[in-house]
Amino acid sequence: MHPNIQIIIEADYEAMSRKGAQLFAEAMRAKPNSVFGLPTGSTPEGLYKELVRMHKDEGLDFSAVTTFNLDEYYPIERESEQSYYHYMQKHLFGHVNAGESRINIPNGKAEDASKEAAAYEEAIESAGGIDLQILGIGMNGHIGFNEPADSFGADTRHVPLTEITIASNARFFASADEVPRHAVTMGMRSIMTAKRIILMASGEGKAGILRDSFLGPVTPLVPASVLQLHPNVIVLADKDAAGLL
Ligand code: F6R
Repeated sequence: MHPNIQIIIEADYEAMSRKGAQLFAEAMRAKPNSVFGLPTGSTPEGLYKELVRMHKDEGLDFSAVTTFNLDEYYPIERESEQSYYHYMQKHLFGHVNAGESRINIPNGKAEDASKEAAAYEEAIESAGGIDLQILGIGMNGHIGFNEPADSFGADTRHVPLTEITIASNARFFASADEVPRHAVTMGMRSIMTAKRIILMASGEGKAGILRDSFLGPVTPLVPASVLQLHPNVIVLADKDAAGLL
């Protein structure tokens, strides 16, 4: 394992989520105006739930934070139940005191997705870059919508979804036909410029890809493997996901 990568293994999903929230809250308390990069998906639901609890019970204060979500489908209406905008409202922003104007999620209804992506990249830069990036990982090693490819996708950009991702995300839609065919995603270079990264993974199903990402070669065929080159990464996994590390 690369010396820059710290592995934290927790007993189960709940313990992993609590640990993630603790690290997140520590970053917020140390720097109340932190810039966070945020994922959606099943993995961070427990993290967001615990952060909401900490806000309600312990007064964890989100008022000065800036957030950038990793990605959004394109095209999609904000109001759509499957949008990542909706997901973030449901799991986090609807329950904490984050300032609306400092919450950033790519606009799934932008007229020009490429322009939206370029503006998003600029907004991350103007905010001073991301202090702490939270990530999930796809079964094929994807990060955001950066899928296995011949080269690491660089900047925030407009991408077509792969058949595998369409099939896997179809569980959130009435049918695979309804899954949007594109997305706007932060690129691997945008993600790599974050000062700190915590990648979270839970369940046996993620064990193989964690091994390939962190013990295998750095290759764009496994997008997460590039994290081996980042100076400050924590892999936060439950026992099942860490089984092959
Ligand atoms: C979501 C995202 C995706 C997910 C990945 C894992 O914003 O960027 O890359 O992190 O697909 O998803 P789950 O957590 O549902 O296994």
